[in-house]
Amino acid sequence: MKLVSIIWIVFISLFLSIGCSEVNDNIVPPPTIGVHPEGFGDASSPNFHKFVFRENDWSFNLRECQQCHAADYKGGTTGQSCLGCHTEPAGPEACNTCHGDFANPEHIAPPVDLEDNSEVSARGVGAHFTHVYDTTSVSVNYGCFECHKKETVGNDLFVHEHIAPPPAKMEFGEFAHPDSLDVTPEFNSDLTCTNTYCHGAFKFGDIQGNSYNPLWNSTTGKEGACGTCHGEIDAEGNLVTPRPTGHSGTWTIEQCTFCHSTVVDAEGNIIDKLKHINKQADF
Ligand code: HEC
Ligand code: HEC
Ligand code: HEC
Ligand code: HEC
Ligand code: HEC
Ligand code: HEC
Repeated sequence: MKLVSIIWIVFISLFLSIGCSEVNDNIVPPPTIGVHPEGFGDASSPNFHKFVFRENDWSFNLRECQQCHAADYKGGTTGQSCLGCHTEPAGPEACNTCHGDFANPEHIAPPVDLEDNSEVSARGVGAHFTHVYDTTSVSVNYGCFECHKKETVGNDLFVHEHIAPPPAKMEFGEFAHPDSLDVTPEFNSDLTCTNTYCHGAFKFGDIQGNSYNPLWNSTTGKEGACGTCHGEIDAEGNLVTPRPTGHSGTWTIEQCTFCHSTVVDAEGNIIDKLKHINKQADF
């Protein structure tokens, strides 16, 4: 490298460093201490930042954090990166940061809910797992917007009403709306659902489902049992028959497969979820 280039580099570096410290001195200095309460970065402290979001009714906006910790959350002038702990590509904006499983980015719905509950009886948890992730249930899994209002989440999650105190906004998608009955699916204040196609608000000719009203946070494990949506259950919730009202014959659960062989087997297990609770009659 020529001497003149080296001199230039030294000169420019000096100029830049003086320039920067002048900028820092003359304009608002970046805060270095006391910005946050003690323990803001310490998971064992009651001041840990995760609680602060809740205690402030979710009025904290991640955009505010970016003003000091930089748009890429790498720390900026604070030197405190968020990404060391928030390791998903979206950093703290990952969908499992505030709800869902912090250790598993595939699970963004509760459990865990916004207040750290993970039991089914908690309103924020309820039957999410059964609907969204369970591979042993009687249907395929459903996306968030079959039950939640899509507009709320919007394009920019973090300046939108999405980050607001619970309860979450409910609005059923097309799937829950019965095609054959003039009723509207609803999520009620007692945490039951009514008039959903999925739970039996259907009519195929003379054949009718039960339009069952499942309780969202029931712990009996029987709200999705055979005979609830169509057919009959007894007072304890045990199966009498899955044969819907208006269906010809006296078929038992073992016999459905005679005609609906692509849907159920001879033990009454659903063998093709794409054909069960899919808004059409399958055989
Ligand atoms: C006004 C600038 C500023 C804003 C706004 C800001 N921070 Fe900070 N933050 C800092 C500074 C400076 C530090 C370094 C430690 C200190 O001074 O408290 C820091 C440290 C932290 C730490 C500790 C990191 C560690 O490893 O211990 C966490 C966690 C944190 N901030 C989270 C947040 C969150 C979450 C928000 C948004 C709600 C936010 N900060 C908004 C300036 C800011
Ligand atoms: C020392 C590690 C660490 C640092 C640094 C850190 N976080 Fe966190 N953050 C966590 C942990 C752990 C959780 C809680 C996860 C859980 O329990 O679900 C969390 C939770 C959160 C939450 C969710 C709040 C809630 O109610 O669950 C937000 C939002 C958040 N962090 C933003 C930030 C931002 C923004 C920064 C950087 C400015 C940052 N965090 C830096 C570890 C950290
Ligand atoms: C900073 C915390 C935070 C992050 C990160 C976050 N959410 Fe949320 N989310 C919330 C809160 C708080 C609610 C409850 C909102 C309410 O009052 O309706 C919520 C509710 C929801 C709901 C229920 C519908 C609603 O708006 O009430 C969906 C769906 C959802 N979030 C999806 C996402 C997705 C997808 C992502 C990632 C792109 C994400 N969330 C990231 C805090 C967060
Ligand atoms: C089968 C319907 C259904 C589906 C599908 C569903 N949710 Fe929910 N969700 C609910 C119900 C019901 C509530 C409770 C509403 C209330 O408290 O009033 C809720 C509440 C929530 C809450 C608030 C939790 C709290 O602590 O209060 C979040 C966050 C949420 N859902 C996220 C999601 C995300 C993300 C998805 C998709 C991955 C999803 N949900 C899919 C029905 C559903
Ligand atoms: C959560 C509600 C629900 C539960 C629980 C349920 N079904 Fe269904 N089932 C439906 C709906 C809705 C239909 C209407 C047709 C469709 O959409 O597939 C249906 C249709 C059927 C059919 C007709 C074939 C078809 O899919 O078109 C058979 C057979 C059947 N169910 C058997 C069962 C058996 C056996 C069980 C218990 C293991 C069961 N169902 C549990 C909602 C349910
Ligand atoms: C002998 C043949 C046969 C058997 C056995 C049978 N079904 Fe059906 N099922 C039909 C036919 C045919 C239709 C269509 C009738 C119509 O559209 O009016 C039908 C329609 C239905 C429907 C409404 C539309 C659809 O397919 O979803 C349900 C639900 C249903 N059956 C459930 C059952 C269940 C549960 C059993 C076992 C208890 C069963 N069926 C046993 C022939 C049968």
